Amino acid sequence: MTENKIRKFYIETYGCQMNFSDSEIVASILTDGGFQASGNLQEADIVLLNTCSIREHAEDRVRKRLHYFRSLKKKNPGLTIGLLGCMAERTKFALMEEEQLLDVIAGPDSYRHLPGLLEQAGSGQRAIDTILSADETYADINPVRLDSNGISSFISIMRGCENFCSYCVVPYARGQERSRDPETVIRESRDLFIQGYREVTLLGQNVNSYFWKEGNETVNFPGLLERIAVLDPQLRVRFATSHPKDLSLEVIEIIEKYPNICKAIHLPVQSGSDKILDKMNRKYTREEYLGKIRTIRSKIPGCAISTDIITGFCDETEEDHKQTLELMKEAAFDFAFTFKYSERPQTIAAEQYEDNVPAPVKERRLREIIELQQELSSASNHRDLGETFEVLIEGESKRSDKQYFGRNSQNKVMVFPKTSLKPGEYVKVKVKRVTSATLIGEAI
Ligand code: 5AD
Ligand code: SF4
Repeated sequence: MTENKIRKFYIETYGCQMNFSDSEIVASILTDGGFQASGNLQEADIVLLNTCSIREHAEDRVRKRLHYFRSLKKKNPGLTIGLLGCMAERTKFALMEEEQLLDVIAGPDSYRHLPGLLEQAGSGQRAIDTILSADETYADINPVRLDSNGISSFISIMRGCENFCSYCVVPYARGQERSRDPETVIRESRDLFIQGYREVTLLGQNVNSYFWKEGNETVNFPGLLERIAVLDPQLRVRFATSHPKDLSLEVIEIIEKYPNICKAIHLPVQSGSDKILDKMNRKYTREEYLGKIRTIRSKIPGCAISTDIITGFCDETEEDHKQTLELMKEAAFDFAFTFKYSERPQTIAAEQYEDNVPAPVKERRLREIIELQQELSSASNHRDLGETFEVLIEGESKRSDKQYFGRNSQNKVMVFPKTSLKPGEYVKVKVKRVTSATLIGEAI
């Protein structure tokens, strides 16, 4: 490293919102450590990839990207390349050896050590830290907002996961579950609001098991939600992800009580078959899941419900698949993220079950699930025709500079002709037309 020259870093993020939030923590740690953030890969001295391991596909994308970085490094041998996140944690030295390209490897709980690791790499020694922690929450770090629209932001409220769903690599890649001090979450939310932000999304693998204890005081998830909701009625609060086994009546009632807690719940079901749910170690039955949906629909009319579905898990039969399709109809999901099962190393499923649904069958089942969801999403959008929603304006529509876009409480994107209001302000919009993904309306 040359003396006195401030080294510039560029971060590329893969995977979930949690990773985007982590990249903002990394940017903050590095800025405090004397490095400078850059949005331009070409001028960067350090390139960091914050990676995801959840599906094989996610890892494949990163491996492809590493090939490109190899060519960059050939041209610029001084370039430092670092791998962060779940893939760093999962593969440790293996990827460093395999790729012969990486200078730094840092797992999700090692980001405070990044300045030191980068120093070490700068002096020609490859550096690795993938030690997981039982208590790191980065609670005191004030994230640098990357790619921000200045209106909505993510806040991590907990890390790790201990549910050990049999297909999932997250408990191995992100370690033990731990919650963050609520005071720091409240402070971060308040600061964002003062800066002009109008929406925060509270993030965790399973936010419903958020729990903080200090002395005699305890704070659970509904308690935290409420404390953020009361900061200001103009601040919208969202959250993700909820595990169905932990979504309590208390949470549903808090969502119902505060207009600024968004009426949108992401509740991954994964499968509609009890046999598969059991094999996945999800700890709820199809009936219990549908019971939660009924409670949400009766307590919070108009609440959007979205889900995640995995198709083609080990031993999934045609009958199991049909039950998933049936459940989707019964739940009438507004939106779904759908995936083909991919075996992940270390997981219970990889060690104990056979990945025995043939690829073409997985693909066909996935197609059927996607087609059905398109119908359900379209029906959901058609139900909104003629309705009026409060929309938080996020900016100009990508398609036209005469239109604004924003979201309603249900998290649906709405597009409408510009008014005198500005991004960051709320406006009531009446739905005139719908497409498969968007509600098109007019401000009233
Ligand atoms: N294969 C396919 N999908 C997976 N997910 C998690 N692990 C796997 C896997 N091994 C999906 C789940 C989860 C979402 C984030 O990713 O649906 O809810
Ligand atoms: Fe993975 Fe299950 Fe934890 Fe979600 S709850 S991160 S699917 S182990």
